[in-house]
Amino acid sequence: MLDLFADAEPWQEPLAPGAVILRRFALSRAEVLFNDIHAVAARSPFRHMVTPGGYTMSVAMTNCGQLGWATNERGYLYAPEDPLTGKPWPPIPAAFQALCHAAAVEAGYADFQPDACLINRYAVGAKLSLHQDKDEPDLRAPIVSVSLGLPAVFQFGGLKRNDPLKRLMLEHGDVVVWGRESRLYYHGVQPLKPGVHPLTGEFRYNLTFRQASYGELK
Ligand code: SIN
Ligand code: FE2
Repeated sequence: MLDLFADAEPWQEPLAPGAVILRRFALSRAEVLFNDIHAVAARSPFRHMVTPGGYTMSVAMTNCGQLGWATNERGYLYAPEDPLTGKPWPPIPAAFQALCHAAAVEAGYADFQPDACLINRYAVGAKLSLHQDKDEPDLRAPIVSVSLGLPAVFQFGGLKRNDPLKRLMLEHGDVVVWGRESRLYYHGVQPLKPGVHPLTGEFRYNLTFRQASYGELK
């Protein structure tokens, strides 16, 4: 397959105050990341979580790190153990950590120390409705989001749900980092279109790194 970007250097696109897209930043490490996703999922399998309102999410999820994002009847929470296995979530793989750190440095968040990584798997039609990432107690830390596999349309708005949305195609290897002014901006993912990706087949994967505990003041 002719890929005009195969040898291109990553490039940056400003997204909003405090937010940037690092295009293809993860491309050279994608295979290692993909293998590590499978290693995590072998211990904490992908599952469709049920929201407090009783809605089964179309995106399949798992986590790695000291804390993992989960749902229960009362709401959303970060838990040290996987409710499915009753065991701690697998640790964040070294390749995940290294990529996240490099991306955070590139985006101007060199101090970022994630302790949670949510892994999303989108099959055709799966989507993530507009939401804020606000379950983290320390909003000084950014979110680092890595896209692998099939492309998807990412929506990025503002502090209010009805603020105008930017719609951007996120492709294999793209990394989005948002923090500071845009840390609580609404965002979402439009339904995945059918396709086949050479590495990930019929799926899109997304890693979001978070600091889910309250950090020490520097
Ligand atoms: C998220 O908002 O947690 C995931 C975003 C994405 O899949 O690109
Ligand atoms: Fe999110």
